[in-house]
Amino acid sequence: KVFRASTTAPVNIAVVKYWGKRDAKLNLPTNSSISVTLSQDDLRTLTTASCSASYSGDSLTLNGQSTDVSGARTQACFRELRERRAAIEKNDPSLPKISTLPLKVVSENNFPTAAGLASSAAGFAALVRAIANLYELPDSPEDLSRIARQGSGSACRSLFGGYAAWRMGDKDDGSDSQAQLIAPASHWPNMRALILVVNAAKKDVPSTSGMQQTVATSGLFQQRIAHVVPANMKLMEEAIHNKDFATFAEVTMRESNSFHSCAADTYPPIFYMNDASRAAIRAVEALNAAAGKTIAAYTYDAGPNCVIYFLEEDQETVIGAFYKFLSGVSGWKDSAAKAQSAVDLPENIVSILKDGVGRVIQTSVGEGPQKTEEY
Ligand code: DP6
Repeated sequence: KVFRASTTAPVNIAVVKYWGKRDAKLNLPTNSSISVTLSQDDLRTLTTASCSASYSGDSLTLNGQSTDVSGARTQACFRELRERRAAIEKNDPSLPKISTLPLKVVSENNFPTAAGLASSAAGFAALVRAIANLYELPDSPEDLSRIARQGSGSACRSLFGGYAAWRMGDKDDGSDSQAQLIAPASHWPNMRALILVVNAAKKDVPSTSGMQQTVATSGLFQQRIAHVVPANMKLMEEAIHNKDFATFAEVTMRESNSFHSCAADTYPPIFYMNDASRAAIRAVEALNAAAGKTIAAYTYDAGPNCVIYFLEEDQETVIGAFYKFLSGVSGWKDSAAKAQSAVDLPENIVSILKDGVGRVIQTSVGEGPQKTEEY
């Protein structure tokens, strides 16, 4: 007999950045963070978890490729989920004893891995949610977020839709380091995102090792965690509650700049942004200047891709400005063709972006993990 359950989980892009661990084993962060969950119509992981006495051992398949299941992060998630299942089996002997059976996890992304968006966040959120569904655990998304956090820090925020915060907590055992909903997608549904997928020549420093080098060597980082992030957390939460885009945008851009400055202040320095990334910052600045107010905000994670947040009412201006010269690039949705009321961006910026952007993804704020019958 095979027991089986499936779920989807979304990608999230932080607007207050997680960068730094105070405990690498439990994956506890040096600071709290906030993210926007993106729509699963465009970016999602679909994961099926099953267990059976007929399986020869635990296994993990990602996008059709068999992957090492013995990693400490995956094992930490499996162990905690099994413990919770074992506890409910103990209380209710009528339940099938499945907590000890080998687990098989099969995961697929609906976006190309080559896009450099292969997010560990959606992956671990889906893994934890799928096994929790398989085990019929009563645990809340907050509870599950503490497990997903051990898979990948940013994954704890992908158990929620809309706008989520990861509270760093202060306990040594990590029992208060979990994600929490700030507001559902329906609270501020007109949030949109345009992702410029930038052609990257070389592989970036992985976030896990990058942030540990920053913690160990950057002086600027101390300033960031002591003062910059606490102030930005407060401003960002208020901006989301008040649907105040100007503040949301300024904090988002300052946070990205602060994180990348700490990366550059790491010794030896880490550079995630390239010429195209910097041109996209100039483009957003030119767009805001032309609009006479802040209508777009850029942010970058541990790679060169640009995520631009904007509101639906400014769609024509924001999408139109990029579509004008990136119309040949793959990924545009039909509606983009209609967005013609565009600002002209400076020619030097346009030529760098034309060379550097390989694909676009147009998406919006979206929902959290969804149970599914699809396998
Ligand atoms: C720049 O969650 O990938 O995207 O916990 O080591 O797996 P690990 O790191 P990860 O780091 C994400 C860093 C970031 C900022 C963010 O998502 O908050």
